[in-house]
Amino acid sequence: MVQIPRGTRDFVPEEMQKRRYLQQRMEATFRGYGYGEIQTPTFETLELFTAKSGASIIDELYNFKDKGGRELALRPELTAPVIRCYIERLQMAPKPLKLFYFGNCFRYDRPQKGRYREFWQAGCELIGTDTPEAHAELVALAYTILKNIGLQNIVLNIGNLHVISAMFEKLRITDAVKKDLLTFIDKSQYEDLNSALRSNDISQQDTEAFLEILQTPDLDKIMNYVHGHERAHTELTRLRGVMDLLKTSFGIPDPRVKIGIVRGLDYYKGLVFEIEAPVLGAEKQLCGGGDYELVSLFGGTQVPQAGFAIGFDRALLALETEQFTFPQPSLDVFIVPVTETTIPMALSVASQLRAQGLTVDLDLLRRGIGKSLKYAAAQHARFAVIIGPKEQEEGKVTLRNMIDGSQSSCAVADLTAAVFT
Ligand code: HAM
Repeated sequence: MVQIPRGTRDFVPEEMQKRRYLQQRMEATFRGYGYGEIQTPTFETLELFTAKSGASIIDELYNFKDKGGRELALRPELTAPVIRCYIERLQMAPKPLKLFYFGNCFRYDRPQKGRYREFWQAGCELIGTDTPEAHAELVALAYTILKNIGLQNIVLNIGNLHVISAMFEKLRITDAVKKDLLTFIDKSQYEDLNSALRSNDISQQDTEAFLEILQTPDLDKIMNYVHGHERAHTELTRLRGVMDLLKTSFGIPDPRVKIGIVRGLDYYKGLVFEIEAPVLGAEKQLCGGGDYELVSLFGGTQVPQAGFAIGFDRALLALETEQFTFPQPSLDVFIVPVTETTIPMALSVASQLRAQGLTVDLDLLRRGIGKSLKYAAAQHARFAVIIGPKEQEEGKVTLRNMIDGSQSSCAVADLTAAVFT
C-alpha cells in the first residue's frame, strides 16, 4: 500500500475538530489586537528563502524545478512571503500594518514528536513601528494567544541580538568563530560553548562571566557587563521599558530576560523572544519572533518590521499534555425513520431543520430504532426525532431528549422551537 510521506500527517474528523477549535481561538485573539488576515502561496521562488540565509538553507527546504525550469520551494515559514507581498502590494497602506496568517510550512527536518516536515504556523508581522509599546504589544499578543487557548504553563523569554554582539566584541571574538558559538547558544549547549570559548583563548574567568550573562534574568548585571558599549546600553534601556510595559500594562506576571536567545533564522536584529511549554520536553519551543530586516533586502523602502510565529501543532500537543478538555463535537438532532415509508418525510424534516441552522444527521442505513438511537448517542446528539407511519399521517414526530431520555409528541412546525429551547 502507498504510505503517507515521512514527517506528514492525516487529520481525521476528531483531530480536525480540535485543530479548528484552536485555530478559531487563535484567530479571534489576533483580530482582537487589530490584525487582519493575509494569505500567500504555498510555494515561492527558491530565491526568496536563500536571499538572506544563502544556499546552505537549501538542505532544510523542499525545493524543486517546475516544468518551466523555475527554481521553487515549499515555504519553510511565512515571514519572507508576507514581506514579499508587502513590497508588491502594501507599501502604500497606512502604517502600522498588522497582518496575521495561519498556514502550513515545510522543512526537511528529522521528524520526531513535535517536529514534522509539514507543520502549521499561526503568526503575524507588524510593519511600520518599533516603539517599545509596539514591541510590548507584539510580545503580549503571542503570550495572550497561548493563554487564551487554555495553556497553563508557559515561559516567556526575551533577549536582544545587539547585546549579544556587544558581548562578543568585549571578548574580541571574530565573526567566523561567532557563527559556531551562536549555534551552541541557540541550542543552550553551554558546556560545548564553554569548551569552544576556552579553545579560542578566552580565560576561564571571562568564559564563566560570559556564560553567566547569557543565562541571567538580571538586567542590571547585563548592563554592568556591557558597560561602556553605547548601542548595548540603549537596547537594554529599551528592553527594560518593554519588560515594564509587559508587567504593568499587559499584566504578564513573569516575563524573563534571557540574553542567550539568538533565534535560528538569519534576519533578526534587535529584540527577540521565545515562548516555551516545559511539558513538551525536547521540542518545547512554542513560539519565536522578534525584530528583523527583510524589506530593504527585497528592494522595498526601509521600515521597521517585527513578528512571531506559533508552532500550531506544538501548541495543540502542549494542550493535550496538560489534559485540556476540548469541546465535544455535537449534533443538534438525529432523525430516525422507523419504516421505509417515512424516509421521505425524515429527509424533508432534516432539510427544514438544517435550513434553520441546526446540525442534523439521519439514519441512512435503515437500521431500526434501537441501533439508530445508539448511534445517535455516540454522535453526542442532543435530540432524536423518531418518525413512524402513524406520526407521519398526523404531521407529528416523537422528540426524544437524548440527555435525560424523556420523550414527547411534537408537531413538525414546532420542532425547531422545541430543539432551540
Ligand atoms: P521559527 O522559530 O523558525 O520562526 O518557527 C516558529 C515556530 O514554529 C517554532 O517556535 C516551532 O514551534 C514551530 N516549528 C518550527 N519548525 C517546526 C517543525 N519542523 N515541526 C513543528 N513545528 C515547528 C519562524 O518561522 C519565524 N518566521 C517567526 C517570525 C515571524 N519571526 C518574525 N515573524
